[in-house]
Amino acid sequence: MATSFKKPKICFFDSGIGGLTLLYECVRKLPCAEYVYFADNYNVPYGSLSEDKLLNKADGVFRQISLLKPSAAVIACNTVTARCAGYLRERYDFPILGIQPAIKPAAAAGSCAVLATPATADSWALKELAVRCGMGRTEVLPCPELALYIENNIYNIDKEKINALLPETRADSIVLGCTHYSFVKKHIEKYYSRPVFDGNLGTAEHLRTFLGNFDHQPENTGKIWFCGGDEKKNSHIFNNIETILK
Ligand code: DGL
Repeated sequence: MATSFKKPKICFFDSGIGGLTLLYECVRKLPCAEYVYFADNYNVPYGSLSEDKLLNKADGVFRQISLLKPSAAVIACNTVTARCAGYLRERYDFPILGIQPAIKPAAAAGSCAVLATPATADSWALKELAVRCGMGRTEVLPCPELALYIENNIYNIDKEKINALLPETRADSIVLGCTHYSFVKKHIEKYYSRPVFDGNLGTAEHLRTFLGNFDHQPENTGKIWFCGGDEKKNSHIFNNIETILK
């Protein structure tokens, strides 16, 4: 893989297409970095896997990532962050950032409901985050089928079907605790008629702060590679993401 001198190389990992929404935000903030997007689309949903299976799968991908000697890796999957980030940070010597639900800004404004995969909803990491940042007014609601529906129907989302998969809540705002859900963020906003938060912007800002200053010349845009899973689908979605997010 040819890389340009001075450009940070950032490896992303999600089970499938969800992390593309975070990649998009990061490329907008840091166009001069080089990105490699790792995915495992044929094994979505990760949110229904046991912790042992998740650790095994995440470790398999991180072994490949480590061969690239990245400047940093970004876990673009709330499920893998919640279940595997500590384990991965102990095993690998490059920096590992992980997306988390944006509970802090949501709870600051009122009560909030975090929508997440079953594995995230049931994780100690999310419970701890909800206690630490949720101001005693944060509930966690598992959405067992939502990520897989989005993964399989991204070109043809049926809004009625999404509605049927969204839980009821009286909370003042909604926090998206799965990167797949960001593809339907606008629809979720309409459905609940309440503010919806996701962790994409915060994670992209964290990555920019983390990387500090580097060569930000506009003509020096970095490349993006897609690796693992359904590479064709991931690259096609990424190249059309503005239309898909509309
Ligand atoms: N996109 C992943 C997340 O943020 C999970 C989707 C899945 O269940 O595979 O949690």
